[in-house]
Amino acid sequence: MSATAYANAEKTLTQKGWLDLEVDPTLDLVAEIQKLKKEKNAVILAHYYQESEIQDIADFIGDSLQLSQQAAKTDADVIVFAGVHFMAETAKMLSPQKKVLLPDLNAGCSLADSAPAPLFRKFKEKYPNHIVVSYVNCTAELKTLTDICCTSSNAVQIIESIPKDQPIIFAPDKNLGAYLVKKTGRDMVLWNGACMVHEIFSNEKITKLMHRHPNAKFIAHPECEAHILDKADYIGSTSGLLKYTEESDATEFIVATEPGIIHQMQLRSPHKTFIPAPPNNACACNECPHMRLNTMEKLYLCMKYELPEITLPEWVIKEGRVCIDRMLEISAKAGL
Ligand code: 13P
Ligand code: SF4
Repeated sequence: MSATAYANAEKTLTQKGWLDLEVDPTLDLVAEIQKLKKEKNAVILAHYYQESEIQDIADFIGDSLQLSQQAAKTDADVIVFAGVHFMAETAKMLSPQKKVLLPDLNAGCSLADSAPAPLFRKFKEKYPNHIVVSYVNCTAELKTLTDICCTSSNAVQIIESIPKDQPIIFAPDKNLGAYLVKKTGRDMVLWNGACMVHEIFSNEKITKLMHRHPNAKFIAHPECEAHILDKADYIGSTSGLLKYTEESDATEFIVATEPGIIHQMQLRSPHKTFIPAPPNNACACNECPHMRLNTMEKLYLCMKYELPEITLPEWVIKEGRVCIDRMLEISAKAGL
C-alpha cells in the first residue's frame, strides 16, 4: 500500500469513521477479504455475536476463552479481531509483537465501561485483604488491577482454584458474580456492573413463550439476571450453550443471550428450532449494539489499510497480562 493511500485512509478514519470511505458495492467482499488474508498472513478471529457473514469468513469462531487461547497461539502476523474492544486488547496483550486490528474502534462494551479503572482502584482500597477476579469483559487498565481473569466458560473453576479462606472481589459483572456466589458458595464482594444486552430479557415474555413451547428447553448465559437464570434448564457461556443444543435430545430451544450465536446453533443442528428470548422493550431484537458495529465493509477496509490498530502502553501490556496468563494456566490445568 502506498504511503499516500495509508495517510488518506488514516485521515478518513480519524475524522469521520469508516462509513464515509466508500466501498464499491459491486466488490466481492468475501473474495477480497480472503485475498487480503493470504497477502498479509492475517487471521480473523470472530466472536459468536458477530453477524453471520463475518462468522462465515472467520478462521476461528469462539467464545471469549477460546478466542484468547487462539490469540495466544496463532502464528499469523496480523490478528483481525471481529469482536469488541476489550477482546482485541486481550489479544494484543497476549501477542504484543503482532499487529492487532479491530474493524470499528467504537465497538466497546457496557460491562467494560461500567468499571472505570480510577474508580475501581478506590473501591479496591476498601478491601485490602481481598484478591481481585475480573471477568475478561473489562478494560486493559482494569486488568492491571486484577489478580486473576476469568470468562464465563471458566469462572467456576477459577473461583474454586482460590483457597476458601481468601476473600475475593469480583468485577465487573454483578449478575455473573451473583451466579458464581450461588454456584460456588463463596461470599464475594461484587462490583455493580452489568451487560446491557443480558440485562433486558423480559421475564413475562419468556414465561409466555415457555407456555407456548412446553417442550422447548430454556437456556441462558450467566450474564442474565438471577430471576431469568432461575427459570433456565441450562446456564452456560456461548460455547457451553452451543454444545448443549448439539448434545440435547430436545428439538426446540429458547435462547437467552445475544442472538448471533443462533447462526452456529442452526448450522450445527439444522433440524432443531431456536427461538431468541425476547427483551423487555418495544423492539423484538436483542443484538449487542457494540458487537454489531462490525460489518463486512469495515472488515474489508480494516484489512486493506491495516487500521484501526490496537496499541497499548508497554506497562499496561506487562501488568495487565499477568491475570490473563494466570487464567489460561488454571484453564489448561482444568482441561478447558
Ligand atoms: P462468552 O464469550 O464468554 O460467552 O461471553 C459473552 C459475551 O458477552 C462476550 O461479550
Ligand atoms: Fe459487552 Fe454485553 Fe455486548 Fe458482550 S454482549 S460485548 S458483555 S455489551
